[in-house]
Amino acid sequence: MKTTLCRIAGTPLTTVVDFGRQPLGNGFLEPHQFSGEYFFPMEAGFSEASMMFQLIEQPDPEKMFHDHYAFYSSTSNYMARHFKEFADQVLRSGYLVKDDPFVVELGCNDGIMLKNFAAQNLRHLGIEPSLNVAREANKHGVRTCSEFFTEQLAESIVAEHGQADAFLAANVMCHIPDITGVVRGIKKLLKPTGVVMFEDPYLGDVVAKTSYDQIYDEHVFLFSALSIRYLFGLHEMELIDVQPQTTHGGSMRYVLAHRGAYPVGDSVVRLVAGEQEQGLDRLATFESFRASVEESRTKLVSLLRDLKARGKKVAGYGATSKSTTILNYCGIGPDLIAYISDTTPIKQGKCTPGMHIPVVPYQTFKEDPPDYAVLFAWNHAEEIMAKERDFMASGGKWIVHVPEVRVL
Ligand code: TYD
Repeated sequence: MKTTLCRIAGTPLTTVVDFGRQPLGNGFLEPHQFSGEYFFPMEAGFSEASMMFQLIEQPDPEKMFHDHYAFYSSTSNYMARHFKEFADQVLRSGYLVKDDPFVVELGCNDGIMLKNFAAQNLRHLGIEPSLNVAREANKHGVRTCSEFFTEQLAESIVAEHGQADAFLAANVMCHIPDITGVVRGIKKLLKPTGVVMFEDPYLGDVVAKTSYDQIYDEHVFLFSALSIRYLFGLHEMELIDVQPQTTHGGSMRYVLAHRGAYPVGDSVVRLVAGEQEQGLDRLATFESFRASVEESRTKLVSLLRDLKARGKKVAGYGATSKSTTILNYCGIGPDLIAYISDTTPIKQGKCTPGMHIPVVPYQTFKEDPPDYAVLFAWNHAEEIMAKERDFMASGGKWIVHVPEVRVL
C-alpha cells in the first residue's frame, strides 16, 4: 500500500530517505523460496504538518503478521523482565480503578506482559492478530481475541466487557498504518479516567544515532512526543507523561488520557522542548539525517571490503529484522559477511531476507569464531559484551554502526 499523503494529516509527504528495493525485515527464508521472494520499494517520508516520520509504501499487514510469524517475545529473558516492570508500573500507577479494573493490550504477542495481570486475576484482554502467538498467550492463562483492532472491535469489546482502565501496547502502535482508526477505537474503549500507555522505538534516538536500521517494513511510523501529541490531540486526547526506555536501542513510553482528565507532566514539556531543539518538527533535520545515513553506508561497506581484501573473516551477530535494512541498503551479501549467528531456532538454517547470508546456530560462532563480528543486535550490546568475553580475549573484534561505524 503506497501513500503519498501523510497518514495522519492528509497533507503531502516528502521523501527523506530512499532505501531502494527491500524485502520483509523478518522474512528469513530457505533457498527454494528465493525465486518467489517479496520486495517492495522502501522510502521514508516526513510530514511537517503532523511531524510524523513514516514509510511511503508498506506491504499488507497480512504479509507480515501471519500464522508463521517468527517472533515470540518470551524467548528473551531481558524482555520478560522489561514487561514485568511495565506491568508493575501500570499496577502501581493509580490509574486503575480499585474495583475490578479492566486492562487491554494491543499486540499482546505470547502474553509476555498480560500474564502479569492474569497472575493477579485481573480482568484483561489481549488483542493479537497472529493466531499462533495468540495460542501461546492462551497457554500462559492470557485471554485473547485474534482480530485487528478497529473502532468496531472497540465497540464490541465495550459491549461485552465495559470500558477499559488501561490500554497498553509495546512495539505495536508503530506497526499500524491505520493508526487513526486505532486512536478512534481507543477513544471509545477508554473509561473517562482511563489511560493509554504504549512504547515504541523513538525517532529522537534514530536521528541522534543514525540508527536507520529501525526503518523496515513493520515500522510504518517512528514516533516522537511531538507527533504523538499531534495525533492524539486530533481526538481530544492528551499526552500526560513520557518515559524514555533503553529497549530496542532507545524507545519512548507515552502515557495519554482523555483531554483534561490529568495534568500534563513536566516530562512532556521538557521532551517536547528538546525535540524542537533537535529539529524533529522540521524537514531540514531529515535532510541531514539522509546525509548521515549515506555516510554510514559508505563507511560500513568500505570497512568490510577492506577487511575482505586483508583476508579477514567477518560474521554477523544477531539476525535482527533491523539488519535486513542495512544489508540490503548497503548491498552486503555472503561475499562480505560469511554467516550470521543467531540463537533463535526458527531462523537457523535459513538465509537473511534479500541478501541471503546464511543464519547459523550460535554454536558455529563459538566453534568457528570470525576475526570480526558485526553487532547487528546492537540493542542488546550490554548483554552480549558480557557474554562474549572469550571472543574478545582471543582477539575477536566487534564492528558497530551505531552511533557511527567503528571497530571496537
Ligand atoms: P531483536 O532485538 O528483536 O531485534 P529486531 O527487532 O531488529 O529483530 O532481535 C535480536 C536478535 O538477536 C534475535 O534474533 C536473537 C538474536 N540474539 C542472539 O543471537 N544472541 C544474543 O545474545 C542476543 C541477545 C540476541
